[in-house]
Amino acid sequence: MAESILKLNNLRKVYIVGNLKTAKKAQKEIQKLHKKYERICCQEGTAYKEVEKELDHAQKLFSEEKYEESYTYLTRRGIKRGRRDKGVVVHALNGVNLDIKSGEMVAIMGPSGSGKSTLLNMLGLLDTPTTGQIFLRGKNVTSIKNSKLPNIRSTELGFVFQSFNLIPTLTAIENVMLPLKYSRTPIMERRRLAEEALDMVGLSDRMHHTPNELSGGQKQRVAIARSIVNKPAIIFGDELTGELDTKMTKEVMQLVVDLNKKGQTFIIVTHNPEVAKLCGRTITIIDGKVAK
Ligand SMILES: Nc1ncnc2c1ncn2[C@@H]1O[C@H](COP(=O)(O)OP(=O)(O)OP(=O)(O)O)[C@@H](O)[C@H]1O
Ligand SMILES: [Mg+2]
Repeated sequence: MAESILKLNNLRKVYIVGNLKTAKKAQKEIQKLHKKYERICCQEGTAYKEVEKELDHAQKLFSEEKYEESYTYLTRRGIKRGRRDKGVVVHALNGVNLDIKSGEMVAIMGPSGSGKSTLLNMLGLLDTPTTGQIFLRGKNVTSIKNSKLPNIRSTELGFVFQSFNLIPTLTAIENVMLPLKYSRTPIMERRRLAEEALDMVGLSDRMHHTPNELSGGQKQRVAIARSIVNKPAIIFGDELTGELDTKMTKEVMQLVVDLNKKGQTFIIVTHNPEVAKLCGRTITIIDGKVAK
């Protein structure tokens, strides 16, 4: 059995849009209790099971839009919804549990607005969940200080986006060298590692081209080279073939499959069933939850 590389425990992301004071206050109390839960979580002799139950109940009330009840349940204090309390609560992620093993290639699918990008942003440590836990190689990263996250992100995680996000004024090799700067790789090493990465994606002969001198598929291969150059534990792709035609999609996915065969873990959000078919597992998200 391969080691667990990414594990999610009851992950939630709640957006409160507008000025819904009762919901905001209830959410604050829920987060407070969640902090306490994180502190004592799974320690023997602590009352963490009880806290977990309380948390579940408060969250259940909250998701049923009973914000006042949720607040009162946690604080034993009353609260009233004022006339000017207007807004909406979006449960972008509504209790996601997942376990992804090292070496997997996972597709994340689901209708528009179901929470895929939100999930990917949480997994990629680009945004923080409201409650719940994320374990990267068994380490709880949700309790890590914000100031340490960029370092984890740049050394452990790689990203490939739909619109490539290459810097237009830099050549392919300069683009690929950028993450090495952020991970503080010695300058002497950077060029060699970037050349190696570009070689792996089959673009040794395009190193000194700028993005506008490359095809869509080639641009995405440069972006993949950039994502692998730090040898990350996981590479995330959000619609990485979204702007490519069928032929280029095949070319880019062939590369992803080859890298996966060499052991690279991938988590890919896609609307394309052909892309999902190439993945070992498909996770479907509906209304912020993993569909059975
Ligand atoms: N910053 C935000 N504030 C409020 N609501 C948000 C915010 N970001 C996302 N949402 C809401 O959260 C839900 C999930 O959005 P998300 O972008 O994760 O969907 P998605 O599955 O990636 O959709 P698509 O396939 O269209 O890219 C949507 O209902 C969206 O409106
Ligand atoms: Mg999206």
